[in-house]
Amino acid sequence: MSKYITTPIYYVNGEAHIGHAYTTFIADSMARYEKLKGEDTYFLTGTDEHGQKIEESAQKNNKPTQQFADEISATFKNLWDEFEICYDKFIRTTDEEHKRGVQKAFEVMMAKGDIYKDFYEGHYCVSCETFFPETQLIDGAFCPDCGRSTNVVKEESYFFRLSKYQDALLKHYAENPDFILPRSRANEVINFVKGGLRDLSVTRTSFTWGVKLPESMHDDKHVMYVWLDALMNYVTALGYGQEGEKMSYWPASVQFVGKDILRFHAIYWPAFLMSLDLPLPKTIGAHGWWTRDGEKMSKSKGNVISPKEVSDAYGVENLRYFMLREVPFGQDGDFSQRAFIDRINSELSNDLGNLLNRIIGMSGKYSDFLIDSKDVERYHAKELAAMAGVLASLDEYMETLQTHRYLEELWKLFSIGNKAIEEYAPWVKMKENKADEALATVALVANILAKAALMLSPIMPKTTAVIADTLGFAIDNANYRALVREGKLLAPFTIKKTPPLFPRIEEPLMAEAPAAKPNEKEIEVKKEKPKAQEKKEETTGLIEIGQFFETSLKVGTILEAEAVEKSAKLLRLQVDLGEAKPRQIVAGIKEFYTPESLVGTQACVVANLKPAKLMGMLSEGMLLAAKDEDGLCLVRPEKPKKAGTPIG
Ligand code: MSP
Repeated sequence: MSKYITTPIYYVNGEAHIGHAYTTFIADSMARYEKLKGEDTYFLTGTDEHGQKIEESAQKNNKPTQQFADEISATFKNLWDEFEICYDKFIRTTDEEHKRGVQKAFEVMMAKGDIYKDFYEGHYCVSCETFFPETQLIDGAFCPDCGRSTNVVKEESYFFRLSKYQDALLKHYAENPDFILPRSRANEVINFVKGGLRDLSVTRTSFTWGVKLPESMHDDKHVMYVWLDALMNYVTALGYGQEGEKMSYWPASVQFVGKDILRFHAIYWPAFLMSLDLPLPKTIGAHGWWTRDGEKMSKSKGNVISPKEVSDAYGVENLRYFMLREVPFGQDGDFSQRAFIDRINSELSNDLGNLLNRIIGMSGKYSDFLIDSKDVERYHAKELAAMAGVLASLDEYMETLQTHRYLEELWKLFSIGNKAIEEYAPWVKMKENKADEALATVALVANILAKAALMLSPIMPKTTAVIADTLGFAIDNANYRALVREGKLLAPFTIKKTPPLFPRIEEPLMAEAPAAKPNEKEIEVKKEKPKAQEKKEETTGLIEIGQFFETSLKVGTILEAEAVEKSAKLLRLQVDLGEAKPRQIVAGIKEFYTPESLVGTQACVVANLKPAKLMGMLSEGMLLAAKDEDGLCLVRPEKPKKAGTPIG
């Protein structure tokens, strides 16, 4: 069966940042992995160029919209080319074939009775290109996803009968537990759908930068809603609505998206596909967000990391390794140079690089650089069995998108190699005139490195090609089958004297992040997740007790409370946690408590959350509360306790 892997298509309102690079690296690694295994694989990426957001960005930059889109799209394509991303197609939604495919889809949906004309009145967030009913807005005006203010839209619109697909979607989620990965993310989608789906407005009349309706509609007032246009890219890239010569790749095996656009991909997209009578993708893989030194990245804060800057300083392959190793797929990750350098030094330089250097050195001394696997089975059956066990476990991690676990497991191979060198001490064996034993250990390690290089190649293609070349073989499907699948050993070869691949890094090579400028307009609607959740077991949702205790819960005494002006929800509290000074906590409880009723009372506080900003005010903790249809109540100790008393 063929494989089809996609990234989201990136908006052309600004150049690529590290978050875009992350999705592209994972997808590229997955595509390379499938190709290594000999699968017929098609890998798609591209740019999303229509809609109000792009039109407004072009206007701000005083450029014609198409020219602006051309320029930014080229920056993405050039960057991916510089990074040697192995995409098979780079689609642009301004491509004529794409537009024709979207129009065709509109006609098919229309013929199916899934589209009707009505009038839309509601709120619209241009930044997220999303409609919101008033009930979902923060303080009646702000976008619940990005916190920016929304516009009121009143216009004639064609609607897609999303509501018709509610039951079919729920059935699909239930029957296909891998449709949304990690599985822990599926619940939010299922709950959203269970909450009731409204029909979706799929055309706009208040601007023109979009795909026109098909001529058969005889209605040129409307352009397509950008998400209908954008989502269709995954099939128009394969020729949907034209000759469709690549449609055999559909359905996609994995579609990578960030968690912020999961709803579009796990609800709208499958509903559109059902309407078009096309099969649904096997998996939507939703990854988390990258922050910089604990701060959310945003252009207005000036702390966005450019992937080019990082790759110029540290090399793109080190960056790929770091990003895929550092963060459990689906969870948020922090980019800090310290953590990056630590991983390069300890995992790439020490564990992997040194192992290669050691066998180059030993084989030079003992056998004039000649390495022969002939005695490996005789002396190292135990290590070979351990190695086979690790290799056999890897597939599942990649299939379930757990790149961090994949790499963690893969690194066990280097431990086996390093341990074997310590245990069998080839230099001692040489002194004892047991050269065949010493050379068998060197050959064992060469084989470990060869197999590991094959399995690391999807993530670090160029570096592993150098390792393979050093070890006298090439990274390809034939060697993958022989060395990894069939457990064969390397034919005799002369090792090359390759210089160290991962020189240690002592000092950060990039300027540190500028102190993030607070953005007063931005409301932090999403609190940072507690650390414990980062390690949540992905398949069962269960955590270890130790992970629970990573959350510091304390009794707090509320010393002061006041209403936050212009906010319907927020109270600003000063809470004593038994520390040198009280903490300011901004809590969304105004509808349920008057400030006076809180002063002097106690509450349970999450004390080790990263501080967050709400309406420009620093909040240094969170109160525990329970909310149901009757309202919200704070969770409090049954009897008064000293401020700061730990809970757990
Ligand atoms: N154009 C839409 C996608 C349409 S797909 C049919 C879009 N574009 S985007 O450029 O805003 O975002 C593209 C991807 O980058 C999304 O998956 C988003 O989650 C991801 N990221 C944007 N910022 C990010 C981080 N800071 N960290 C990780 N990824 C984030 O949405």
